[in-house]
Amino acid sequence: MKITYLPTIYPFSKSVRGSGSNSRMRDITRDVVYKKLWNFDLAEEVKKLFDEKALEWSTTRNIPARGIPVLDALERGEVYGKRVVDLGAGTGLATQILVNNFESVVALDISKEMIKNSITPETPQVCADSNRLPFASNSIDVFLMMNMILFPNEIERCLKAKGFLVWISSRGPDTPIYLPPEEVIDLMSANSEVSWSGVSAHAHEGSWLVARRSITR
Ligand SMILES: C[S@@+](CC[C@H](N)C(=O)[O-])C[C@H]1O[C@@H](n2cnc3c(N)ncnc32)[C@H](O)[C@@H]1O
Repeated sequence: MKITYLPTIYPFSKSVRGSGSNSRMRDITRDVVYKKLWNFDLAEEVKKLFDEKALEWSTTRNIPARGIPVLDALERGEVYGKRVVDLGAGTGLATQILVNNFESVVALDISKEMIKNSITPETPQVCADSNRLPFASNSIDVFLMMNMILFPNEIERCLKAKGFLVWISSRGPDTPIYLPPEEVIDLMSANSEVSWSGVSAHAHEGSWLVARRSITR
């Protein structure tokens, strides 16, 4: 079994905002993993888009409900480790949860404006492209990605053998930057010498997957 689905313990609440399934970010998300399409122009497009959203990002999104899938993933996904990175951290909405649960947390984002508007400025902030992570191979215990583009090769390279990938979609399949848990597992396995597996659940408006390599190297 590649994914074990856990029962929903937080009442499911369907996102009432428009679906992100036809959005530009959804196309980019899929092109990056399936067409290996990531280049300077695309990185600039994404950076600009999120730079422009940065000032208002936390205003509507920094609400307890958005943290529910993160908390559920960490708890029932039994995530542990020392060195944790919030990839595509934005203004730190998941980072603020991570710092209460882990010893060493770094927030990384490609958008300078997102970092400038971080609600966790005391957390080390790195401005970098996840396509080329500034971390040593085999050095990270946990990568958390909430509504973030997947770069399987870099996750595979930097994550320790028993490390965790925590994949959060705050509005489930309506999240613009979204890949279903099954696809995340398949993509990670395809970019690895070993297969990946995980546990997943819905929580409130969102869904989560906690994934790791099935066989220890
Ligand atoms: C939809 S936002 C999510 C932000 C935050 N995780 C949250 O849930 O509030 C996606 C974030 O990923 C960042 N991002 C997109 N592509 C990236 C890349 N290649 N490397 C690093 N960050 C990236 C964007 O700048 C943006 O802040």
